[in-house]
Amino acid sequence: MFLAQNRRLLEGMESLRSLRKVCGLVAVDRRPTIGLNGDWHTIVDPYGTGLYTFHGDLRTDGYFMNGKQAPDGEPVEYNFQQSPVLQVPGDWNTQRESLFFYEGPIWYKRDFSYQRQPRTRVFIHVGAANYRSYVWVNRQKVCEHEGGFTPFDCEVTDLLNDGKNFVVIAVDNTRLADGIPTLQTDWWNYGGLTRDVSLVEVPEQFIDDFDLHLKRGNQNIIEGWVHVEGVLPEAQVTVRIPELNVNKTAKVGTDGRATLEFEAGDLERWSPDHSRLYRVYLHAGQDEFEDEMGFKTVEVRGTEILLNGSPIFLRGVSIHAEAPYRTGRACKDEDMKTLLGWVKEMGGNYVRLAHYPHDERMTRLADRMGLLVWSEIPVYWAVEFDKPAVLAKAEQQLCEMIRRDRDKASVAFWSVANETPATPARIEFLRALVTKVREQDPMRLVTAALLVRTEGRTKIIDDPLGAALDVIGFNEYIGWYEQAPEDADQTVWKTAYEKPLIVSEFGGDAKYGLHGDTDKRWTEEYQANLYRHQLVMLKGIGRLRGMSPWILMDFRSPRRPMPGIQDYFNRKGLISDQGEKKEAFYVLQNAYRELSASVS
Ligand code: GCU
Repeated sequence: MFLAQNRRLLEGMESLRSLRKVCGLVAVDRRPTIGLNGDWHTIVDPYGTGLYTFHGDLRTDGYFMNGKQAPDGEPVEYNFQQSPVLQVPGDWNTQRESLFFYEGPIWYKRDFSYQRQPRTRVFIHVGAANYRSYVWVNRQKVCEHEGGFTPFDCEVTDLLNDGKNFVVIAVDNTRLADGIPTLQTDWWNYGGLTRDVSLVEVPEQFIDDFDLHLKRGNQNIIEGWVHVEGVLPEAQVTVRIPELNVNKTAKVGTDGRATLEFEAGDLERWSPDHSRLYRVYLHAGQDEFEDEMGFKTVEVRGTEILLNGSPIFLRGVSIHAEAPYRTGRACKDEDMKTLLGWVKEMGGNYVRLAHYPHDERMTRLADRMGLLVWSEIPVYWAVEFDKPAVLAKAEQQLCEMIRRDRDKASVAFWSVANETPATPARIEFLRALVTKVREQDPMRLVTAALLVRTEGRTKIIDDPLGAALDVIGFNEYIGWYEQAPEDADQTVWKTAYEKPLIVSEFGGDAKYGLHGDTDKRWTEEYQANLYRHQLVMLKGIGRLRGMSPWILMDFRSPRRPMPGIQDYFNRKGLISDQGEKKEAFYVLQNAYRELSASVS
C-alpha cells in the first residue's frame, strides 16, 4: 500500500539517496558493533499516514520526525514512546496476534546514545528487513532498501549527535508484482526487522569487501583480493593467518583493490568431514578485523561434483528459515543449532537454504558444523521477467547475497531461481543472473531448481537454462502432486545435459501423529512410503550427485489452510514444527547412513 504513493515519493527521495549511498560492509559479525537489537517502539500504519497527507503528498512532518505534542501546537496524532514494542530481530507476525496476517507498513523507532569518534565513519547495519525499508536518523532521511533477505549498510557519520540520537525505520512487507519474490510464494510473508540491527564504526579508510579462496587444482595456494574504501593508491593491505605462518602484504591499486596470491603452508582443506577453520586477519591502514574462514575448492568434472578434487554425493535436505517450536522467522543462534543439528542427526552433509538467503548465523554455523550450502535468491515462480527494473532488483539481491557469504567455506552453490516458467524473457533474465554470479564469484557453482517435462512415464530434464548452469537442480513431486508413490518405480529419467544433477525437491505432506495405510494421504505411513520409492528411483539416475528433499521441518504458508491437518502449515516436513520426527525422517536417515558407509 505504501508503494502506490511511493512511486511519486521515490522521485522525491532520489536526490536524498545520492547523499547516503546504500553499500554493503562484509564480515560485520566479526567487527565491534553497537547493537540496536531489543525492544523498538512501533506504529502499525496500514494507510501510510506516517508518510503521506490525506491527498497522498509526502509529509514533511511524518512519523520520522518522532514528534511530541507541544502545549499550544497542532495536534500530533502519534507517539512512539507510548506505542507498543516489537522485538528486533524478529518478524512482527508471530509477535502479536493482531499482526499475524498483516501486510503493510510498520514504523520502528529506537533511541540510542553515541559519542562521536575522531577519524571514524559510522554505518547503520541492517541484517535484513522484509520487504522495503526506509531509514531516518535524527529526522534525516538516510537511505532505503528493497529486498527482504539481504543486508544493507547506510552511512550516518555526519547525522549523529554526541549523546542522544534516535533511528526510525519504516518497514513495508506489501507484496509486489514487480518484486523479488513476486506476489505468490509458498512461505509466510514475515514482515519486520527480521535480523540484527547495529551501528558499525570503521576508520576513514576501511576494508569493505574481499575474496580469499583456495586456487582450484591446488592444495595450499590462496589467491584473491581485498578492497579498501577511501584509501590512497600504494597503500598496503596485509593478510595474516598465524596458524599457517602467513603474513602477506600487497599494494592497493587505483581501484582500491589489492590482489594477493600466496602459499599457505600445511593448510587443511575444509570439508563436511573436516570443517577446519582458520583465524584470518585482514589489515589496511587503521582498519583490521579477524574473520573465521575455511578453504576448499568445489568444481565440476563432467557429471561429477568435486570437493577438494574428489567426487562427492550431497546427502541433504531443504530448509526454510522457520524457527523450530516458536515458528516465525529464524533469527536466533538456537534456531540454527536446532535445524542444522537435525541435518547432522539425519546423516546429512549438505543443506539447500530455500528460497532466499538465510541469516548469516546459518552459514557461519554450517561452516563450523561441516555442511555444504546451496544459497538462493527468491526468483521464485512467475517473476516479471520482462521488466529490466525487476532484473536490477534480482541482481542487487544476488550481489548482496554473494558479498555477505563469499567468505563462507560451507557455501558451494549460488542458485538463481526456483521453478520458473520456461519463457524466452525468463531465459534471458536468468542467463543475465548466471553471468552476474560468475562475475561476482567465479569460485563457486551456479545452479537453479528447474521444472521437468513429462512424456508418459518418462521425465525429461531439458530446460534450456540448463546449458548455462554448472549443476542442474530439478524439482519433482511424483507420488504427491502427480501419480502414486509406487509410480516412481516405473519412471524413466532423461537429461539433455552432460552435467551433475541434484534433485532439489521431492516429498509429500504428512501430519505428525496421523497414521493409516500407506495409501492414505497426509499420514506418516504415506510419506514414508513415498520416500522409500523415491530413494529407489533416484538411485537409478546415473548423473545424480545429490538430493535435498522438501523439506526438513513443517513451515507456515498462507497457501495451506486445510483445517486439522495443515492449519496454514506446509506439512512436507520430515519433522513437525514442534520437533517431532515423522516416520520418513528415519527412512531418509537410514538411506544416508548406508550412502555414507558406502563411500567411507
Ligand atoms: C514447490 C516449491 C516450494 C513449495 C513446494 C510445495 O516445489 O518450490 O516452495 O513449498 O513445492 O508445494 O510444497
